[in-house]
Amino acid sequence: MKKHLKRLLSIALVLVMVFALAACGSQETTPTGSPSPPQETPQISQSPQAEQPAAGKKVGVVMPTKSLQRWNEDGANVKAALEAKGYTVDLQYADNKQDVQNSQLENMITMGCDVLVIASIDGGALGGVLQQAKAANIPVIAYDRLITNTDKCDYYATFDNYGVGKMQGEFIEQALGLNKGEKGPFTMECFGGDPGDNNAYLFNQGAMDVLQKYIDSGALVVKSGQTKFPDEIAIVNWEAKDAQNRMDNLLTAYYADENIDVVLSPNDSLAQGIVASLISAGYGGANKPFPVLTGQDCDKINVGQIIRGEQSMSIFKDTRDLANQVIAMTDAILAGQQVPTNATYNNGVIDVPSFNCEIKFADKNNWKALLVDSGYYQLSDIPDAQ
Ligand code: BGC
Repeated sequence: MKKHLKRLLSIALVLVMVFALAACGSQETTPTGSPSPPQETPQISQSPQAEQPAAGKKVGVVMPTKSLQRWNEDGANVKAALEAKGYTVDLQYADNKQDVQNSQLENMITMGCDVLVIASIDGGALGGVLQQAKAANIPVIAYDRLITNTDKCDYYATFDNYGVGKMQGEFIEQALGLNKGEKGPFTMECFGGDPGDNNAYLFNQGAMDVLQKYIDSGALVVKSGQTKFPDEIAIVNWEAKDAQNRMDNLLTAYYADENIDVVLSPNDSLAQGIVASLISAGYGGANKPFPVLTGQDCDKINVGQIIRGEQSMSIFKDTRDLANQVIAMTDAILAGQQVPTNATYNNGVIDVPSFNCEIKFADKNNWKALLVDSGYYQLSDIPDAQ
């Protein structure tokens, strides 16, 4: 009897672990944006605590731009966490220019960095510099964005990028009641991110895998007809002002006599531009409610937009988790131990062993618990928070 119980317990434990791992969103993905089916047995190999791998080691960290809040936080978090472990850190920003980032990396290779952590701008345009890293035997960790078309991308630490888009699509589905038989029609326009950023394909794919069926059924009507990423909806470099211009044009051309009900925005910088455009077109006033609008990053400005009812949600990617994952990978690589991974991404050349961190979303109901009570932000950081 006791033995039987023990067996049942172990089966239950295995089942719980399988569900927990599935909930982590482990997913194999491709740079073209079409995710492969989830791995059957996603595997988390926890890194045993590395012993003193940091002593005398230098890590080069490159981030795309200082113009978005998230990358400033990412850079600061990674640097602080690495330094706390005893690493020396060279952190550089590249003003969204891949050639500038490539020079920074060349310099880091020459200066003898032991590991490179790269949040790329155009993930397919690092070729030459990665060959130099390979020749110098320097491990490369892609940070948040996959480095594509190379065999020199040793590890990838990120969030569940396909899951981000899917969560945005599902938010729209639920907000409109589409999954409860609500037939609309609702008017919608779609935005996509930078075409040089592999994540942008995955965000779009995840969202469209939820929403396309409603476009096909006529429940969602895209009056501009522009749904194809990247050709019709991409915003180069994720620029807020370009999203604003495109939204201005869409509103003038297609929504002069009718309100727009939904805007699919993959991230917060675009959502900022979209809100600016909506406000100048009179949304938020009588008879013109703000449309359902998605976002990602929970930038402070955007949390303010959520509080004021101008934006509906934003995906929360806790950059402290990502920083910790990078530190765990760096420690394990330098200690010659097994590197923690729970997913693989195909980058066009190889399957890159990867770690997907968990995502959540913030909206008007939970932003405070998720972002403030958790210690991620101070209440005073957020515009219009009480
Ligand atoms: C990141 C997003 C970010 C976007 C623009 C993407 O690669 O995953 O979090 O909003 O770049 O910087």
